[in-house]
Amino acid sequence: MNTPYASSVYEEAAAFVRGRIRHQPQVGLILGSGLSELADQIADANIIPYAKIPHFPVSTVAGHVGQLVVGQLAGVAVCVMQGRFHYYEGYPMQQVTLPVRVMQRLGANLLIVTNAAGGLNPAFATGDIMLIEDHINLAGMAGANPLRGPNLEDFGPRFPAANHIYTPRLRALTNEVAAHTATPLRRGVYLQLSGPNFESPAEVRMLRGLGADAVGMSTAAEAMVAHHAGMEVLGLSTITNVAIDHLEATGQPSHQEVVEAGAVIVPRLSALLLGVLTRLASLL
Ligand code: HPA
Repeated sequence: MNTPYASSVYEEAAAFVRGRIRHQPQVGLILGSGLSELADQIADANIIPYAKIPHFPVSTVAGHVGQLVVGQLAGVAVCVMQGRFHYYEGYPMQQVTLPVRVMQRLGANLLIVTNAAGGLNPAFATGDIMLIEDHINLAGMAGANPLRGPNLEDFGPRFPAANHIYTPRLRALTNEVAAHTATPLRRGVYLQLSGPNFESPAEVRMLRGLGADAVGMSTAAEAMVAHHAGMEVLGLSTITNVAIDHLEATGQPSHQEVVEAGAVIVPRLSALLLGVLTRLASLL
């Protein structure tokens, strides 16, 4: 069941972080499974472990470091989540998405979300990067919606629109950076499940039929909460494995595979993100 959080909960967490950072964040960045490394490049960083921040949960997943890193990256003041929270860890969706509202309260008007995802689109291969154009929040549709419960009007409306979650100007900018740097970039629809299990072949075929290109266990909820709070959103999925759609396949997906593929993708994802941030630095 979702626990309703009062505005004071977000304020208390933000106040704690505010007192420990030198740069007021303009951009929030969530680094998914195996992608934490990028935060090592942040200059003049303040590092705050989640366990110290009031009301923050802790990451329990291998590959998720579990700290906020606030500093300068490519000329932009960023607040980076090195590791995120997931519904499958047992946290209610409101707690999973709490850091997004805290980043918004810290001053970030823009959220960049990254994740590890399984490729559903038959054209996708392990190692691809997919620009999220839209999402299917299947976990949310099934009841695990982060905006369930009393609406906090000081964040956004009771019934938010969802047809422009992934900001068109950020998608255009990312497409330009990818083209300019000759970085291959897929585009598609991300679908969020609750996890923690990977999908059965029948489920993979069903999800594909629903119109999804990549499947994962995060992101849609965070993106929706950010959009609700008036933040611009950019989403990037790294395809760490190809979802298995037939019973006869001998292999099987594993978290180790996801983390290993993440390590291979990190340099390309980092280059793309640094290119995007460099462009944003002159626009923010
Ligand atoms: N399914 C769901 N979540 C995932 C996958 C997958 O195949 N790969 C990485 N995260």
